[in-house]
Amino acid sequence: MKETGKIWMNGNLVPFKDAKVHVLTHALHYSTSIFEGIRCYDTPNGSAIFRLPEHVDRFFKSAKLYSMKMQFSKKAISEGIIKTVKAGGLKESYIRPLAYYGYGTMGLTPTQNKVDVSIACWEWKMGESKAGKFSGAKCKISSWIKIDSRFQPMQAKAASNYANAALARMEALENGYDEAIMLNSRGKVAEGSAENIFVVKDDIIQTPPLSAGGLEGITRDSVIQIIEENGGFVVERDLERDDLYAADEIFMTGTAAEVKSVTQIDKAKIGNGKMGEITKAIQKSFTDAIMGKDERFLPWLTFI
Ligand SMILES: Cc1ncc(COP(=O)(O)O)c(C=O)c1O
Repeated sequence: MKETGKIWMNGNLVPFKDAKVHVLTHALHYSTSIFEGIRCYDTPNGSAIFRLPEHVDRFFKSAKLYSMKMQFSKKAISEGIIKTVKAGGLKESYIRPLAYYGYGTMGLTPTQNKVDVSIACWEWKMGESKAGKFSGAKCKISSWIKIDSRFQPMQAKAASNYANAALARMEALENGYDEAIMLNSRGKVAEGSAENIFVVKDDIIQTPPLSAGGLEGITRDSVIQIIEENGGFVVERDLERDDLYAADEIFMTGTAAEVKSVTQIDKAKIGNGKMGEITKAIQKSFTDAIMGKDERFLPWLTFI
């Protein structure tokens, strides 16, 4: 990792290399942290953070679901994000706000400990999440089952959700694939390890409902809004494994992934094995939106 700029820790900007925590930090032991992943893009009109208020809202929703008492307001966190991005001096970056039960008492109950907050950012260029962006990702249906809200709140972007996702991602990579697709305990399609999923069949764009266990992705919402603004629609319905193998096109959405195409699932080729026309069009519309080239979506950008 290239160490550039500063990291915001509980309201203070500290040098990147000094942003450290104690080894007895509660979250390190018990996964008691929540976080966000946000992008800042180098648009023709300057650097802009994509859907900042929505990410800050989700950050606070995640904290609420874990009864975390935030010592900062949404306004303070938004300002902290902008300050950190400016201090980094990068035109394009990935931004990672994190709230975690810190150092204090050890033991399972986290609530005696203070909730610490940090905001880091590092260089990440558009389209840098390579697998599938241009060539199409090869995905493996994971043998790990997506955990669901009976086990822990899945609408929280919580670190504890990601052990399950990381196992799926590792399994996929170890078997020669680029990414995992996770089914839920009912055998329905949930999402990728860190992306939402869309399936196109006979020109109908479909995506699993949030009740299937996927995160309420901000890119998912952006893509749905773009499709609707362009006169189309997205059907939310439970998808079977068969729907994946039989699809004409599949694409995934996420802050890191943006809009990436899936051209193979397990040993099955999707469509003709190349990125489909609908995926290509959505990828382009999304890129126009994040680059500020589509006036309709300019309110999604916070110029810094
Ligand atoms: C599990 C999971 N699903 C979906 C997404 C996509 O969400 P978003 O588009 O808000 O980045 C992410 C990424 O944050 C994720 O980690």
